[in-house]
Amino acid sequence: MPKTRIELDCGNLSPFISGRDFASIFSEVKRAHELLIDRTGEGGASLGWLDLPDDTPDELIRDIENCAGEIRETSEVLVVIGIGGSYLGSRAALEFCRPEGLKVVFAGINLDADYLQDVLDGLKGRDVCVNVISKSGATLEPAAAFRVIYNYMKKRYSSRQLKKRIICTTDRQKGTLKKIADSEGFRKFFIPQDVEGRFSVLTPVGLLPQAASGIDIRELLRGGSDMKDLCSALDLEKNISYRYAAARQLLYRKGKNIEILSGFNPCLYYLAEWWRQLFAESEGKQGKGIFPASCVLTTDLHSIGQMIQEGARNLFETFMAVEKPKREIKVPAMDKNIDGLDYIKGKGFSFINNQARVGTRKAHMDGGVPNMSIKIADRSAYSLGSLFFFFEKAVAISAYIQGVNPFNQPGVEAYKKNMFELLGRENTKP
Ligand code: PA5
Repeated sequence: MPKTRIELDCGNLSPFISGRDFASIFSEVKRAHELLIDRTGEGGASLGWLDLPDDTPDELIRDIENCAGEIRETSEVLVVIGIGGSYLGSRAALEFCRPEGLKVVFAGINLDADYLQDVLDGLKGRDVCVNVISKSGATLEPAAAFRVIYNYMKKRYSSRQLKKRIICTTDRQKGTLKKIADSEGFRKFFIPQDVEGRFSVLTPVGLLPQAASGIDIRELLRGGSDMKDLCSALDLEKNISYRYAAARQLLYRKGKNIEILSGFNPCLYYLAEWWRQLFAESEGKQGKGIFPASCVLTTDLHSIGQMIQEGARNLFETFMAVEKPKREIKVPAMDKNIDGLDYIKGKGFSFINNQARVGTRKAHMDGGVPNMSIKIADRSAYSLGSLFFFFEKAVAISAYIQGVNPFNQPGVEAYKKNMFELLGRENTKP
């Protein structure tokens, strides 16, 4: 049995769901497991992510590492342009691992002029590379940002330089971005056709920005691979991904239709953003789904904590905490106990944070909010790779139990249709 550095504790579910409940849902977990293994479920053509931790070719990893090395040698800033699944994974990784390398900034994540101008202002006087990422090659937010940034880059660099400084990550065969990359001679990486955006963090979509920032992508994949082994058994005790998926669906059936992913470390903020997209786009369809919310604690105990403790009882919570911070700070001794804090004198902040977590779990449980807890050993790339795979496998199982296709997102088109009509796109297609 492989060891991973992730643990799931379901101890605070017992008054709400019982061992008998877990036994009762087992046949549905088994069915979902078979749909994934046999690749016969809805969206079965989008299961390439299952193989990524083990089957990413060494040649591709080396290409990514080489390209990342060139970016670091030639540039002080990497602008990553992409939205949704083409962005959130690498942003989550950068915040979680906080490597000390190259500065990475994100564009194409909204349609706000001030935001984009701030990105451009931040490039002044610094050498720049750009990684534009879009599987469809047609998403407006990144496409519009790329037009602006390409225009900027053209004014700064020769066309020979641009061929090295602009890297496109897109579909191998189709889409506008692929056409642009071919016609302008930009460097390219491809997104496998059987991997959807929100499952693409272990493809070049996530691997290149992470490698460029100094994250060890081999360790990331190794973490994913060990989690893949751990989560392959049809066993609700050993397989933490399946236990988490089963618990969520049992809670949902008991009227708990909002899940809050509560991270006890700010470095988990963007991991929760990535998780929100993964779960919302995979499960929220056909009038069904658990609404994925997130917060950072203890910060948000002073804002939405009241609602969690005493508001409508349709919530459950999944806590996440990093056991070992990168650095530790101890509360210093003072000559006099002027602030009354001597009771924590000499204690590490991580110890205090942990006591806050234990206290919060109990308080929320007493307030009628069942909770689970995910312990993450450290902020390593290995742990992060394990976490990515843990959640991906869990959402696939959970969505199949819920009876929806985890791998499409038809609802995302509605706003686009209206927006494109208002912008008059039909008359100006290339
Ligand atoms: O999960 C998904 O497929 C979406 O969130 C996409 O990642 C997002 O809409 C961006 O799409 P694209 O990469 O085609 O620009």
